[in-house]
Amino acid sequence: MAAMLDETALSQALSGRRVLVTGHTGFKGGWLSLWLRRLGATVVGVALPPARQSFCTAVGIDRLIESRIGDIRTENTLREAIGGQDFDLVIHMAAQAIVRTSYEAPVDTYMTNVVGTAVVLEAARRMPSLGGVIVVTSDKCYENREWVWPYRERDPMGGRDPYSSSKGCAELVAAAYRASFFSAAGGPQLATVRAGNVIGGGDWGTDRLVADLARSAGSGVPARIRNPVNVRPWQHVLEPVRGYLMLGAALLDHGARFAGAWNFGPGADADVNVGRLADLAVSKWRGECPDYIIERQDGAPAESVVLRLDSTKARAELGWKPLLHLEEAVASTVDWYRAHRREPERIRAFSESQINDYAARWATGKDAAPAQEEKEVIATCA
Ligand SMILES: NC(=O)c1ccc[n+]([C@@H]2O[C@H](COP(=O)([O-])OP(=O)(O)OC[C@H]3O[C@@H](n4cnc5c(N)ncnc54)[C@H](O)[C@@H]3O)[C@@H](O)[C@H]2O)c1
Repeated sequence: MAAMLDETALSQALSGRRVLVTGHTGFKGGWLSLWLRRLGATVVGVALPPARQSFCTAVGIDRLIESRIGDIRTENTLREAIGGQDFDLVIHMAAQAIVRTSYEAPVDTYMTNVVGTAVVLEAARRMPSLGGVIVVTSDKCYENREWVWPYRERDPMGGRDPYSSSKGCAELVAAAYRASFFSAAGGPQLATVRAGNVIGGGDWGTDRLVADLARSAGSGVPARIRNPVNVRPWQHVLEPVRGYLMLGAALLDHGARFAGAWNFGPGADADVNVGRLADLAVSKWRGECPDYIIERQDGAPAESVVLRLDSTKARAELGWKPLLHLEEAVASTVDWYRAHRREPERIRAFSESQINDYAARWATGKDAAPAQEEKEVIATCA
C-alpha cells in the first residue's frame, strides 16, 4: 500500500463514513472525535458521562457529535446506547485507564477492559456495514521484562498490575474474536493498537503527570510526583490518533492486510524518565509556574521501570511515523492548558487550530526533528 502521506488522503477514505467511538468523553476519544468530525465522518460516541473537568466538557465534544451515554460492561446497556445503529468503523477506546485505580478496583478494571471489549466486539459483529474494528489497548499489554529493548508486536502479552494485565487480556480477547469472527475474506477486519504514554491538552485524569502539573499551575499547590526514574515512551495525543485514523482508513480500503496488532510509539528521543519530562514541562510553562515535589511512597503499588515501543511495522507498512520531537509535544500540551486558563470559551477553536497545525506539519513530510543532545533542562519558568 502506498503510504497515506497527508490529511487529504485520510479525508478521502473517511469522509461520509459512519464511525462509532467508545470513550469519546475521555481524553484520547475526545481528540479522536474532533479530528474525525473535521475529516467529514459521522461520529457517534458511547461512554460514561464526562468528568466535570475534561477535554469533552471544555471543548463540548458531546454537542459536536452524537453522544450516547452507555456502559460497555453489559450487552443490554451497550445495545440500548447504540440503539440498533450500523457503522462502517468501530474504534473501541473506552476503558478504566489508570494503573493506580486498577489496584483499588481490580475487578471493575477487568470488567470494563476485558469483558467490555468482548461486549463491544459482540455488538460490532452484528453491524451489517462493518468494514473494520480497532481495539485500543496499551504499551503496557506486553509482558514487561524490564529490559532496554523496545517491545515488538509479536512479543508475549503480560502485565503485573491489574490495568496492564487487563490490557494484555483485551488483546487476547481481540485475537480470539479476530480468528473466530473477523477473518472472512472480504469481511470486516480487526486490529489492535498499542500507544505510549500520551500527553496533550485537556487530560485531567488522576495520576497523569502533565495533568498534575496543570492543576498545580497558578494554584500554588505543588504536584506530587512518584517514580521520577521510570522511563516511558511519551508522545503527543495527535500522534497515535493519526495512527488510528490511518489504520482505520487502511482497514476500510484494503482489509485483511492491515488486521493484527500495531505499535504507535514515539521516536527514541521521547523515551525519557518522569523527572525529566516534568522538568521539561515546567520549563515551557511561562507565567503561571507549576511546581512539583517528589514523593517517595514506600509500599506504593509497583509500576514498570522501563517501557519502550518498537513502531517499525507502522512505519514500514502503514507509512506512519512520529512527527513531533518530545519538546514540541510538551510545548503544544502546555500551550493548550495555558490557552484554556486564559480563554476557556475559545478552547474548541484552539484545539481545532492545534489539529490544523499538526496536519500541516504532516503535509510537509518532515519527521520528528532529530534528537537533540541530552542537555540538562532547568526546571524554571519565567
Ligand atoms: N492516556 C494514555 O497515556 C494511554 C496510553 C496507552 C493507552 N491508552 C488507552 O487509550 C484509551 C483512552 O485512554 P484515555 O487516556 O482517553 O482515558 P480516559 O480515562 O480519559 O477516558 C476513558 C473513557 O472510557 C469511558 N469509560 C470508562 N468506563 C466505561 C464503561 N464502563 N462504559 C463506557 N465507557 C466507559 C469513559 O467514560 C471515558 O470516555 C484507553 O483504552 C486507554 O487504556 C491510554
